[in-house]
Amino acid sequence: MIDGKKVLFSGMQSTGSLTLGNYLGALKNWVTLSDDYECFYSVVDMHSITVRQDPAELRKKARNLLTLYIAAGLDPKKNCIYYQSHVSGHAELAWILNCFTYMGELNRMTQFKDKSAKHADNINAGLFTYPVLMAADILLYQADVVPVGKDQLQHLELTRDLAQRFNSIYGDVFVVPEPYLGKSGAKIMSLQDPTKKMSKSDENPNASIYLTDDTDTIIRKFKRAVTDSEARIKYCPEQPGISNLIEIYSACSGKSFAEVEAEFEGKGYGDFKLAVGETVADTLKPVQTRFDELCKDKAYIDGIIKENAEKANYYATKTLRKVQKKVGFPERIR
Ligand code: TRP
Repeated sequence: MIDGKKVLFSGMQSTGSLTLGNYLGALKNWVTLSDDYECFYSVVDMHSITVRQDPAELRKKARNLLTLYIAAGLDPKKNCIYYQSHVSGHAELAWILNCFTYMGELNRMTQFKDKSAKHADNINAGLFTYPVLMAADILLYQADVVPVGKDQLQHLELTRDLAQRFNSIYGDVFVVPEPYLGKSGAKIMSLQDPTKKMSKSDENPNASIYLTDDTDTIIRKFKRAVTDSEARIKYCPEQPGISNLIEIYSACSGKSFAEVEAEFEGKGYGDFKLAVGETVADTLKPVQTRFDELCKDKAYIDGIIKENAEKANYYATKTLRKVQKKVGFPERIR
């Protein structure tokens, strides 16, 4: 608890460009959570180097992501928006937690298995212990809730196990976090293969709408979106492509699936795709405009970065000192 509010932690990696899926599935909902929770939203740049990165690119992407958090509507005075690498406590707690994590537990992580298959030439120890760093992120701020996608639930489960394991040895040190299961965000699928999640690491640029795509690009990508030959606009498992477009249209317009179906009853896929493209472009426009403005205001963003790193450090250090004492590290002499 901070000032009587429950604590919420989440983070995104600064690799790739954010997609409509990240926006509608996560970012947009984060904004509505900041009234009810004390929120920490991190740009988890330390996680990114488990895969080889170009340094200049990584720095630029991290800054863009932090700026996008604000452009999407997160008030940086209310939400702690910061770079993970600016708070050394993440690495320090991760080390301690590593010593409480079993190899067997990490061997079971499906994301590790997937990523090591994808990067067979660089299966490094960081990739293996990635979930422990993620646990440290969350436990460092004594987070009560963590909004995450399904693909991260296994990591959150490990975080809970580690917190409970530590607490059972040393007493109540960590809050045991829960996945955030409130009104969850929309699940947006690839435009080229609607059985796969829309992903920022997809090699086919037509599969994803990037938050920085202009109106023409957005409309073109929707025009090419893979659908079916049923020729009816209905949300159902047999029509994953059309269902995905309905989900997107609904998330952008606030209309229910039934309302969308009624609106396009008897209309062709061409009309519907165009309407989805236009609605998405309208939804992203204000975020893009704000992003461009913010990018020009270097001093403002720098100020946010500094202030929020200090705030994050304050809370992180509080937890870290407690943990260090519990495991038996010598007291600091002041
Ligand atoms: N592993 C998460 C992902 O790839 C990102 C992440 C890192 C995260 N630390 C976190 C998410 C802590 C929630 C809480 O999506």
